[in-house]
Amino acid sequence: MAFQKAPHTNNSIFGIKKSPERMPFLKPVKHRTILNTAEPHFPKINQKKQKKQSLLGPVFKSIDNFITDFIDSPLRPSIDPKHVLSGSFAPVNELPPTPCDVVEGSIPSCLDGVYLLNGPNPQFDPIGAYHLFDGDGMLHMIRISGGQATFCSRYVKTYKYTLERDMGYPFFPSPFSSFNGILASIARVGLIVARVVAGEFDPLGNGFGSANISVAVIGGKLYAIGESDLPYEMKVTSDGDIITIGRHNFHHNEEEFKFWGMTAHPKTDPETGETFAFRYSFPSPYLTYFRIDPQGRKQPGVPIFSMKNTAFIHDLGVTRHYAVFNDVQMVIRPCEILKGKPPMIVDLEKTTRLGFIKKYAKDDSEMWWIDAPGLNISHVVNAWEEDDGDTLVLVVTNISLVDHMIERLDLVYTIMEELLGMFEKEENYAEARAVSKIS
Ligand SMILES: [Fe+2]
Repeated sequence: MAFQKAPHTNNSIFGIKKSPERMPFLKPVKHRTILNTAEPHFPKINQKKQKKQSLLGPVFKSIDNFITDFIDSPLRPSIDPKHVLSGSFAPVNELPPTPCDVVEGSIPSCLDGVYLLNGPNPQFDPIGAYHLFDGDGMLHMIRISGGQATFCSRYVKTYKYTLERDMGYPFFPSPFSSFNGILASIARVGLIVARVVAGEFDPLGNGFGSANISVAVIGGKLYAIGESDLPYEMKVTSDGDIITIGRHNFHHNEEEFKFWGMTAHPKTDPETGETFAFRYSFPSPYLTYFRIDPQGRKQPGVPIFSMKNTAFIHDLGVTRHYAVFNDVQMVIRPCEILKGKPPMIVDLEKTTRLGFIKKYAKDDSEMWWIDAPGLNISHVVNAWEEDDGDTLVLVVTNISLVDHMIERLDLVYTIMEELLGMFEKEENYAEARAVSKIS
């Protein structure tokens, strides 16, 4: 999940000789030492606009500081870095490949592979408001090979990470923490527009995500993914290091359906090598389902026009014949920014639904939905079919106390549930009904 953090380094199995230095907390913003790795490939920045950037950069920074210091509303716990980055969520620095001591037993020599964990880890100390999901993606890896274990932590060198590193301070807006009061929201929207016009950054061309939620192997390549942006291709080197190759669009060339992001939890079919995924967006189509072929080429998207708003759909279930979506109560309403609030809200009046579409559907004409009150799936653990496809089983984590999802994550917990849907098949799948749901 997005709020997973680095594993502790003093566990009972592996002992790392050199632990990553803990970041001094809430000291003045400074640029921590970043170890050299291969640079990602990004589109060239307009040189003419670069000159404007060098002149206007300090002005924008001063305005940003002024908004933070004098206009922002008092920080709520959900965006107060003293609260958010405390305890095990405190940031760590990068760590080059570092041999681990085996302190108990031995590692079988036949084991050969890596365990990877992605999570948010801010490059800089926050200047003001900071949400748990804002941090730059960092991969933590234990590589086991030849009876040895090696630990390594590297940032995903996203466009955001690289640009902020070069500027020396964090300035990318966050949908979770940048809109904190009406005046501050209006000021920040104006500042964002000014920065884009001045060429300081290009979020539409290069994305603005942190690739901080998960990792996945798609078409034989490793990716770090955050659902607000395209995935970033990563590579594990022979000496146990992790490098960023660059932002990747899976050879997408559709103009009618822009491809700016995808779920961080795509599902890969082990038999065919195909990957099934989706993205949510604003404006319509609010949900688009698609697949990526075994060679890593994105296929035409299937816009789901039966979605009536943008829901924070985090995961999907995929069975032999179907893909399943949960239309959840966490929704995106950009107009909330004008009220000085984050654009994500929890709509408790909304009845959640489960949507079923054939896995290889060309459009959503045969997709059908059933009401599923109280079901707000965060993750799909597994999904399969029984009774020749008449019964579909989903094992999911359902969010409890969803109304706290935005502001009090510490109060939210998830419940593992098994959902059983039995379908009376009719000629027209749109008329099929779920006759039972057991949890
Ligand atoms: Fe997740």
